[in-house]
Amino acid sequence: MNSARIREIEMPFDDVGSGAGIILLHGYPFDSSMWREQIDFLSAQGNRVVAPDLCGLGETKAASEISTMEDMARDVAALMDKLEIDRAVVCGLSMGGYVALEFVHLFPSRVRALILAGTRAPADNEPEKQVREQQARRMLTEGMNFVADATLRKLLAPRTLTEKLEVVAHVREMILRSDPQGAAAAQRGMAVRRNYSDDLASINVPTLVIVGREDPIRPVADAEFMHDRIRNSSLQIIEDAAHMTNMEQPEIFNRALLRFIGAHNEPA
Ligand code: MLT
Repeated sequence: MNSARIREIEMPFDDVGSGAGIILLHGYPFDSSMWREQIDFLSAQGNRVVAPDLCGLGETKAASEISTMEDMARDVAALMDKLEIDRAVVCGLSMGGYVALEFVHLFPSRVRALILAGTRAPADNEPEKQVREQQARRMLTEGMNFVADATLRKLLAPRTLTEKLEVVAHVREMILRSDPQGAAAAQRGMAVRRNYSDDLASINVPTLVIVGREDPIRPVADAEFMHDRIRNSSLQIIEDAAHMTNMEQPEIFNRALLRFIGAHNEPA
């Protein structure tokens, strides 16, 4: 893994292949390793794939007690500057999707195309914010075990849980190795994120919305909401997948990305 110093913090990232840039933004509480299948596949298909560990997650330390989506989006822009990537396809899953929505709002000219997977546009309501705060406090006192126990069954479809044990193990490992301070900071950052619903009509780049048919966390209705409002968007619903579509059904996810990116190619 490479590393860049951003806001005085070391940010490790994968940077594999050459060609047009694709930035992959992971979900919470995960890290860039969730994109392994996409990094291998898309780089072999002639793309430059960059996947950072976002602030407070993976190997990147949190910069403060709250990691906002805006902080993370600005970190991504700073990383692109360092890598001399002016414009890229930006793909985010769940929390990474919030960061992608923030990024396209802040830096529209740097986005060639957008991929929003397992995410949603509206902000949290008050009860959702309270749950995040309770979870943040609990992580800081108890660590990450309870998160793995409570969420695996929502993150993964029944078929993944019984038939893809290496995916189950990988998701569990990512949760357990997350730094509780960094995970709590990301939870607090998500709690204060903006409502992106009003931004959707002004997104001016080709957009692919992806959702797992069985995702209870960010269900199909959330994806349809974005697809209905983003003018130049298409929707892909992935069967036999819940929240972690790219890990649960990598072949389908990869083919969808390749088709979409190929249709919106421009020189590196
Ligand atoms: C994620 O997978 O990134 C989270 O489920 C996002 C969230 O908690 O809103």
